[in-house]
Amino acid sequence: MRDIFPSVVAVAVAGPDDWLGELLPVEQACLGERAVETRRRDFAAGRSCARRAMTDLGLPAAAVPAAADRSPVWPAGVVGTITHTTGYCAAATALTTDVRSVGMDAEQHQEINPGVRRIVLLPEEEALCAGLPGGTSWPVVMFSAKETVYKVWYPVVGTWLGFRDAQLDIDPDAGTFTARIAPARLDQATVEDPPATIAGRFVVADGLVRTSAVLLLR
Ligand SMILES: CC(C)(COP(=O)(O)OP(=O)(O)OC[C@H]1O[C@@H](n2cnc3c(N)ncnc32)[C@H](O)[C@@H]1OP(=O)(O)O)[C@@H](O)C(=O)NCCC(=O)NCCS
Repeated sequence: MRDIFPSVVAVAVAGPDDWLGELLPVEQACLGERAVETRRRDFAAGRSCARRAMTDLGLPAAAVPAAADRSPVWPAGVVGTITHTTGYCAAATALTTDVRSVGMDAEQHQEINPGVRRIVLLPEEEALCAGLPGGTSWPVVMFSAKETVYKVWYPVVGTWLGFRDAQLDIDPDAGTFTARIAPARLDQATVEDPPATIAGRFVVADGLVRTSAVLLLR
């Protein structure tokens, strides 16, 4: 993930020990006692990576509980993001003095189910995919980019953003995307200056699609 973030963002990718990492009591309380083992491992890896990404910024390895809506609750002065998919987990953090919001997502690089595809892609995005170079599952890149966009949007605006509320453009050579947020969602936002466009990066390698986006403050 380091390769698709600017240097003000600290990134930690899970190694074997992270999946077995200890949770702090407040995090364990969010996870609950009845979580299945795979969920416990994913949650633990995310928290372990989050702590490493915070210490890389020179900050204490603080707890990252989950809010009732499942979004991570970062310590004051920190923004961050977590993703996991089979065999892969990463977290990224930054200081609120540098970054307004950060998001990332990882998915397996495979075809997506036609039903999911119909939900995720706008007709304009289907047309875009048809013209992009072969060898890449562009609908999965778009799916991942949209999940990243949501992870950037939600901590700032605090409202729902559906898959069809953002229209993506992709530059396959630069490995970048731009999401234009639907005007109706911007009008509904109660925060000052909701992001009308969210720009990000993507990479397809090692069987994974990874996407990132950062709202830089300077
Ligand atoms: C929240 C969501 C984006 C997570 O993506 P995912 O592919 O299911 O799962 P990932 O492993 O990549 O990410 C999960 C992590 O996202 C984080 N997360 C959950 N809700 C979040 C939110 N509202 N805002 C920011 N981060 C959130 C959590 O850290 C979670 O991991 P954890 O539970 O272990 O802490 C997804 O479940 C979702 O609700 N999508 C629908 C909304 C959407 O994507 N709209 C597109 C707008 S263009």
